[in-house]
Amino acid sequence: MLFTRKSAIPLVALFAAKAQAWGTTIHNQIAFMAESFLTPQTTEVIKHILEPEYEGSIGRAGAWADAYAHTDEGEYSSTWHYIDSADTPPAFCNVYYNRDCTKGGCIVSAIANATVKFGSCVDAVKAGKLKGGSDVECSMALKFLAHFIGDITQPLHTSGVAIGGNAYPVVFGGEETELHSVWDDLILMADAKADKDFSNKTIDPYFSDLLSRTRKDTFFSPTHEWLACSDPSTPVACALAWARDSNAWTCDYVFSQIFNGTDLLESGYASGAFPIVRLQVSKGALRLGTWLNRIVEDWYKKDREVILQTNPSWVDGPMEGK
Ligand code: ADE
Ligand code: ZN
Ligand code: ZN
Repeated sequence: MLFTRKSAIPLVALFAAKAQAWGTTIHNQIAFMAESFLTPQTTEVIKHILEPEYEGSIGRAGAWADAYAHTDEGEYSSTWHYIDSADTPPAFCNVYYNRDCTKGGCIVSAIANATVKFGSCVDAVKAGKLKGGSDVECSMALKFLAHFIGDITQPLHTSGVAIGGNAYPVVFGGEETELHSVWDDLILMADAKADKDFSNKTIDPYFSDLLSRTRKDTFFSPTHEWLACSDPSTPVACALAWARDSNAWTCDYVFSQIFNGTDLLESGYASGAFPIVRLQVSKGALRLGTWLNRIVEDWYKKDREVILQTNPSWVDGPMEGK
């Protein structure tokens, strides 16, 4: 995890250890939404790539990466869920790949790597060499994509400020919490009026509604803009564009509309964020479905160079683990 280099556990680690993603079942739901954009060919290929327990559904597999990051075996992937950019909101927000992607990898490099791997797995399926989820690395690549293309739309997964808000204490609905969880879970749960997790087996009406709004293209930013970068032969450029799109909210809303000391559910902060969360979740779903389709369609130019070597300016993010 994040603070293993230190012998004493810094106070913020207590906040930082738990939050890692949109809430677990929100990931399932984003990937269920994405399923509805898949072509019959992509749906067929995916059935061969996922292990049988997922029944060919990326929705069912959408939360796997978080559980995996919390195992000893998968701990190496815990930094792949975010990119800790050196923002100074509300004045300046941006993400730079070589500056911000940690040595162990970040969400941008993880999406790029999983894309390249998944592309080779699709070829293996097409050649009849891969069936029944028999290649664990192929299944992992798909499960990583199904998860990270969701995570990258959560603004605090693309900001290093206060460790992605994990070290930013706030009050929400009378409970003391931190800003990261507010954006991972609490705003959306309040918007959906949900008092328990969503299903991990079928799509929930809140998310079906987002799907129909996506199809009708009624969000305040048009769907073609969400897909402005969607060529899997430039995975770093696209993942970086998605990270920048999401990170812009940290200046524009997340850290600029905080009413200090107020309860964020009551102060108008949460209701102002409802449209942002709906939009971000919907972007994740449409991008995921489109990305997988384009890889399966062989639409992209495969021999393009992908540069992944990084020299981050810091290891522990802008706050250097403090
Ligand atoms: N851990 C450190 N930075 C993080 C971030 N931006 N999002 C989630 N977990 C983190
Ligand atoms: Zn995650
Ligand atoms: Zn998170």
